[in-house]
Amino acid sequence: MPGLLSSPVCLTVIWFLSWSLCTGQAQIQTDEVSGVQYGHIQSNVTLACGKSQIRVPVAWHLNHSSALPRHRVTPDGALVLLHADHSAQGNYSCHDDRGLLLHSVRLRLGRPPGLLKVSCQVPNHTHVRCSWTELVKTFLPAKYNATFRGTGLEWRPCVLDLAHKHCDVDHPAFWQTIHTLRITESNGLGSETTSVRFRLHELLKPDPPESLLVKALEGHSQRLIVSWNFPASWPVHDAFPLKFQIRYRPQGSAFWSEVFPEESPYMIFDALAGYLHQVQIRAHDEVNSESQWSDWSPLLLVRPWEVSSTTETPEEQTEETFPDFFPLSTKPEISTAKTHNSVHPEDEGNLGLVILLVLFSVVILITVLSLIFVVWVRQRRRDHVTKQELTSMVDFNHLLLVGPF
Ligand SMILES: *[C@@H]1O[C@H](CO)[C@@H](O)[C@H](O)[C@H]1NC(C)=O
Ligand SMILES: *[C@@H]1O[C@H](CO)[C@@H](O)[C@H](O)[C@H]1NC(C)=O
Ligand SMILES: *[C@@H]1O[C@H](CO)[C@@H](O)[C@H](O)[C@H]1NC(C)=O
Ligand SMILES: *[C@@H]1O[C@H](CO)[C@@H](O)[C@H](O)[C@H]1NC(C)=O
Ligand SMILES: *[C@@H]1O[C@H](CO)[C@@H](O)[C@H](O)[C@H]1NC(C)=O
Repeated sequence: MPGLLSSPVCLTVIWFLSWSLCTGQAQIQTDEVSGVQYGHIQSNVTLACGKSQIRVPVAWHLNHSSALPRHRVTPDGALVLLHADHSAQGNYSCHDDRGLLLHSVRLRLGRPPGLLKVSCQVPNHTHVRCSWTELVKTFLPAKYNATFRGTGLEWRPCVLDLAHKHCDVDHPAFWQTIHTLRITESNGLGSETTSVRFRLHELLKPDPPESLLVKALEGHSQRLIVSWNFPASWPVHDAFPLKFQIRYRPQGSAFWSEVFPEESPYMIFDALAGYLHQVQIRAHDEVNSESQWSDWSPLLLVRPWEVSSTTETPEEQTEETFPDFFPLSTKPEISTAKTHNSVHPEDEGNLGLVILLVLFSVVILITVLSLIFVVWVRQRRRDHVTKQELTSMVDFNHLLLVGPF
């Protein structure tokens, strides 16, 4: 390291870096770049040539060019841009009559913030997310500050995500009826606070149920089995029950059939044989009647079982407006469907069959094992006997051989 530091090349680089840093600083000092000046768009914007009184005449430049938008220069050297629009933005610099830079400033034009349009989502009892959109286009970078509280409680921060223009509150005081959210937007031209009041239990709206699955039941041309999961954002807990609504219709029909299943899975008994069906599900907090239904889950398309369901008739395919992308609808891929149990309307039939099959295979396994065991034991016994015979024969021979001595 010391060798490296003392090498001429390295020293030169360090010297150059420090030189450029120093001259950069010096330049900033002489330039007096006070940073950015913000101006109201479509108004007269005044740019002063530094703080001190300036000798006239001064010359103004925009982006190092002497071409300026509509303007006038006041007796004290300030530049007034008349009815400035976006094209007037840029780096302004003023110079004395010898061309020496006196002052420079970057001008940005826009508007002060206006009120925000705020909406809050409450996907469960422990989470509030509020998002906003600006009602006024400011053209300027903005800062936000958001706080949240239940009536009579302390303000607490609503945690900001500026990229997505929303903020989150975890574990809001759900027992409080009214909550207030305050969002302050500020930019170079001012600030504005938007206040919204709302009732969490009215905003409570679960996400749609997930993993909706609709299957045809082999042997039943009017039945569909519907299964689903709780939305991932809803706690699966007895304290937070959900109620569900399923709706379904033959594709092309204007009327939905609606059912309120207790739990997953649910069997539809009155599907229209031979028709592709649309099926959807949504959820609602079971306890709180003032809360909202979730959105409907995405549509599923399923055809009930058909006698000739393995081969689709071509005319049917041309009728369809949606691709039949659910293999469940046509392929009887479930081996348990080949059962004599299919008389049972209940889904438990399948479970029973599986248990039966398992028991049956266990019995067979045990039988085979015991057979093998019995055969093995007998074989062993026979071996033993022959061995004994052999040894006695050997003994006998021995006797015979030894005997005469
Ligand atoms: C801007 O300046 C022009 C010329 O000085 C003047 O006529 C006009 O009224 C000013 N506009 C505003 C909004 O002050
Ligand atoms: C204006 O100035 C800023 C810094 O003050 C600089 O980054 C930018 O490149 C300048 N723009 C022009 C067009 O000179
Ligand atoms: C001056 O430079 C800025 C970028 O710093 C640019 O946005 C602006 O359009 C330029 N203005 C003119 C008049 O060229
Ligand atoms: C945000 O607002 C609260 C109250 O309105 C205030 O106490 C806090 O200082 C503000 N924070 C920032 C970063 O502006
Ligand atoms: C509530 O919803 C939020 C946002 O989807 C999620 O992050 C959180 O885990 C959920 N809470 C529970 C208890 O599921």
